[in-house]
Amino acid sequence: MRVRPRIAPSILAADFSRLGEQLASCEQHGVDWIHCDIMDGHFVPNISYGPMIVAAARKVWKRTMDAHLMTYHPDHYLKALVDAGADLVTVHQEAVAHLHRSVHSIKDAGLKAGVALNPATPVHSLDLIIDDIDLVTVMSVNPGFGGQSFIPSTFGKIYQLHALRKDRHLNFLIQVDGGVGVHNVDELVRAGTDILVAGNSVFAHPEPGAEAQRLQELADKAYQTFI
Ligand code: DX5
Ligand code: ZN
Repeated sequence: MRVRPRIAPSILAADFSRLGEQLASCEQHGVDWIHCDIMDGHFVPNISYGPMIVAAARKVWKRTMDAHLMTYHPDHYLKALVDAGADLVTVHQEAVAHLHRSVHSIKDAGLKAGVALNPATPVHSLDLIIDDIDLVTVMSVNPGFGGQSFIPSTFGKIYQLHALRKDRHLNFLIQVDGGVGVHNVDELVRAGTDILVAGNSVFAHPEPGAEAQRLQELADKAYQTFI
């Protein structure tokens, strides 16, 4: 079943000296989901921030907050993320040895569980876990950095997930992460994307909230013509 698509600003691209102010601007402009990118410098070649920043964002952000763990051993951070107030935790299929256990640990902790797929990881790798997960994140860039170009083969994976969800009568959300902006929102929504993560396209703009709203309007328009 499809839901209204949503733009999810990634705070990786925010101005951390003004994070509260920028999140307030997003809230005022109707954003209801934000994305927090946690990187460990091992699974991906970059270090970003950890659960402390998620907790800081939670002080001002009362709506949905997803923690995208680009780390090995994501289970090590679960308690800290629960305490920080995350609503969803997304782990990478490629980073965990025991995906079933990791997904169920997240759900047992009372959070929604997401699984992210790198650009070269096929959708069918989730066949035996898809019934148990709340969100599939299709990485449309190689994870580790914001501001990269969208990889076009992502579309094939969105179509596959959209068809799989329908065929198996499931309700997981389809999220796309990386290189999302005005140029591809329409096509992504039409392909079946529910959550569109947008880092630089929102926060590199002088008015992040207004820009997120503009992207949301494009997503809503595409959704209206799609349904
Ligand atoms: C990439 C991260 C993304 C990133 C997206 O490793 O997972 O969430 O913040 O940034 P943009 O939208 O700038 O590609
Ligand atoms: Zn991300």
